[in-house]
Amino acid sequence: MNKIIVENLKYKYPLSATLALDTLSFEVAEGEFIGIIGANSAGKSTLCQSIVGLVPHFYKGAYGGKVSVDGLEVKNHSIDELSLKAGIVFQNPFTQVTGSKLTVYEEIAFGLENIGLSRVEMKERIDYVLDLLNIAQLKDRNPFELSGGQMQRMAIASIIAMKPGVIVLDEPTSQLDPEGSEEVFQAIQDLSKQGVTVILSEHKMEKIAQYCNRVMLLNCGKLIDFDTPEKVFSREDLEDYGVRAPVYTRVCKALNTKIAGTDLYPVTLDQAYMALGGKSR
Ligand SMILES: Nc1ncnc2c1ncn2[C@@H]1O[C@H](COP(=O)(O)OP(=O)(O)OP(=O)(O)O)[C@@H](O)[C@H]1O
Ligand SMILES: [Mg+2]
Repeated sequence: MNKIIVENLKYKYPLSATLALDTLSFEVAEGEFIGIIGANSAGKSTLCQSIVGLVPHFYKGAYGGKVSVDGLEVKNHSIDELSLKAGIVFQNPFTQVTGSKLTVYEEIAFGLENIGLSRVEMKERIDYVLDLLNIAQLKDRNPFELSGGQMQRMAIASIIAMKPGVIVLDEPTSQLDPEGSEEVFQAIQDLSKQGVTVILSEHKMEKIAQYCNRVMLLNCGKLIDFDTPEKVFSREDLEDYGVRAPVYTRVCKALNTKIAGTDLYPVTLDQAYMALGGKSR
């Protein structure tokens, strides 16, 4: 079943002369893990905001076309209604903090209180996400005293606790070190395996290649490609769009080494290892 359907989506911010999103059409099935890539200003964040309804309900401007999430047409439903279907983690986690809660625990509880969960159910969900994001030791800390990476984990935990069917993450690991990024990607992958649909914008191409089942390449608000990581990262014109393929792909391209039996280059470490003659591990 398709969880997200986008048809001819066009959007222009107020006072802007150019379209931030230019006639996008695509569909995403339940449980897919989608990566959105593209240069700065390509429209990644704007597309993320369109899926959860911040465009056009919060950011006004000129809007055309149709976005449906789990059967709800975004333009006809409020941000509150949509938030039960799709949650978003913002590019800057600082903007996500409520500002009114004294501890990480209360911060995560905030959204759950708003949907009227029982105390027992709330505690269960909060303990689960604290553990999933590896931040149980921070639960009594003030949200504003966290590092950027800790705040990012808290923001992700808050959204996951709401159990939306769709999770949109806009550069969720920008403040995390390599180990932290890996942990967060693993946690998101776990959710995806449980059937949650994941849309994630990211500049770390190695991570996109490793975790996403499809990759959307945007440029100046237009959809250039939406295909497997192997197909998108094998494009000869990728760098024209301000994107560099994963390092494994670039090495294999330089050596003209493709995935056996295909016309495509390896995109992950394991694929490169095999293509370069490694024995299966
Ligand atoms: N609040 C805003 N008001 C006006 N224009 C905006 C606003 N936010 C983004 N834009 C413009 O919309 C276009 C798409 O921006 P967007 O932030 O979606 O790109 P992005 O791909 O997320 O970039 P980055 O990699 O830098 O995060 C850009 O031209 C940008 O200048
Ligand atoms: Mg962005």
